[in-house]
Amino acid sequence: MDQELINKIRENTDIVEFISKYIPLVKKGKNYFGLCPFHNDNNPSLSVSREKQIYKCFVCGEAGNVFNFIQKYENVSYKEAIKIVGDSIGISIGYDIKKVVDKNQIYYDIYDIANKFYQNNLFSSEGLEARNYLEKRKLDLETIKEFQIGLSLDKKDSLYNLLVKKGYDIEILEKSGLINFDHDIYTNRIIFPLFNQNGKINGFSGRIYHGENTNKYLNTRETAIFKKGENLFNYDRAKEEARKKKYVIIMEGFMACIRAYTIGIKNCIATMGTALTIDQVNLIKRLTNTVYLCFDGDNAGINATLNNGKILLENNLKVKVISLTDNLDPDDFIIKYGKDKFYSLLENPLNYEDFKIRRLKNGVNFHSSEELSNYINLVLKEISQVKDAIKREIMLKNLAEETNVWYNTLEKKLNELLSEKKLVSSNKNILLPKKEKKDKYERTLQILIYYMLTRKGTITLVENSNVYFPIDSYRQLFLEISDYYNKYGSISIADFSTYLEEKGEFKDIFKEIISLDLDNNVSNDIILDYLKVIDNYNVSLEIKRLENLIMNEVDPLEQAKISNQIWKLKMGSEKS
Ligand code: CTP
Ligand code: MN
Repeated sequence: MDQELINKIRENTDIVEFISKYIPLVKKGKNYFGLCPFHNDNNPSLSVSREKQIYKCFVCGEAGNVFNFIQKYENVSYKEAIKIVGDSIGISIGYDIKKVVDKNQIYYDIYDIANKFYQNNLFSSEGLEARNYLEKRKLDLETIKEFQIGLSLDKKDSLYNLLVKKGYDIEILEKSGLINFDHDIYTNRIIFPLFNQNGKINGFSGRIYHGENTNKYLNTRETAIFKKGENLFNYDRAKEEARKKKYVIIMEGFMACIRAYTIGIKNCIATMGTALTIDQVNLIKRLTNTVYLCFDGDNAGINATLNNGKILLENNLKVKVISLTDNLDPDDFIIKYGKDKFYSLLENPLNYEDFKIRRLKNGVNFHSSEELSNYINLVLKEISQVKDAIKREIMLKNLAEETNVWYNTLEKKLNELLSEKKLVSSNKNILLPKKEKKDKYERTLQILIYYMLTRKGTITLVENSNVYFPIDSYRQLFLEISDYYNKYGSISIADFSTYLEEKGEFKDIFKEIISLDLDNNVSNDIILDYLKVIDNYNVSLEIKRLENLIMNEVDPLEQAKISNQIWKLKMGSEKS
């Protein structure tokens, strides 16, 4: 590919703005920080530098330029990554992404066929009753089309016959999760397609629509393309809006999520009735760090709120709660009280901690000192989990007021809890593996290369010094840099990173070099000192080699010669 065009794409893309489209970034000092999408990150450890146009993660060590980022994030080839970035700024690289052949493509094809079939059924004469049901549930045509709602017929093998006619293997059909032996899994149910994070259909949920004595919803079993714990209903559709609004709403059921959509709430996803998994939490983190939980108003919903809220908080997300009255779920609530009422709830979400404390208070007899002190201790424990000191103080004040216990007493107890917590977390740190310490000379080579890429004049200094890089990979890297610089007349970390990517070499050491993040404002003398360190190292290697030679030498005359050489080398390095 044309290196200059690639560099042009990179130069015209601001890495901070680009990554912001995928991950919320916050400015701290001269760099921007966000949760790293490449490991299970709890503290913002991904740092993005506008100045250097690179990113790096302090924890997992992932690093690179804007192309590396999107390549890893979208799991695409390097060429595709360049195309994505190019497209984002309107530069076409004239490279056609050959459709990557997904080994599971056959299943996606089957789901697409099934989906079209189900959608057609709904509008056939056999779909009348189902259409009436949807109408009764206030799902209009537009919504039905938007969510591609369909119907499986009241026949045991209509999808099976269609797929066999299209030439699919029985074995593949079984594996698809839609067919069992020679009959359809879904019969006589309203079908809601489930989409993966890229918007491909990878499963269905089928709802009964008359008679209530069978399982209400039937979900696709786990298949090669459907893992329940990795899917979130409506994720793909809600992505952009959640990033824009800077929060995402999570509901329990997908009907509620569809309802929210009909009143214009498009940053909403659903868990489909199970507790959030770590994979789902990581998907959420890609959108925003604030989550509104809007679960059903019944006891099950309250427990799910507490449960999921805890999981989200542990993963350092901000959690707010929309609490519904009368045991209603969001779907029923919106139908009963209307759009405006629901919007006003959204404007005043409860903090998760306040929600939890409200629950703790339920049924406590304030006249019983036993129950009251128990309640106070539970609340204090909650408050101790809150990271923001101001928020803690407000909560403590409220507790003092409502219980009539002296503020200072509560504060003392809270501080006890807080110092216990600190102890636990500092112990945790000890268990973390220590980062491997780099050999001093290797580190020096890395520093020199870093400066060659970031500090004007360094390349010439290194070239003129004639210092030999004693480690093969670094020597080759040095030569690559030198060639690149002489060819293009300038160099930057971000562009050279692209160049190396094309070559497919030095990836690991380059990541380490990028991560050094040194101050460029150093004098030539400092660079020369680093070169001296390497030079002395070379001398010491040579001395070692000669000493070995002496040991194996039998001729005393030769021994004397070598010994003289060693002496000269030692003198030479002492002088300097
Ligand atoms: N669910 C399921 N199987 C069931 C019941 C529920 O998989 N037998 C999942 C569904 O994904 C559903 C979610 O749990 O969306 C929430 O369940 P529930 O509140 O019972 O469903 P609603 O969303 O209220 O659906 P409806 O209004 O159609 O009853
Ligand atoms: Mn419902």
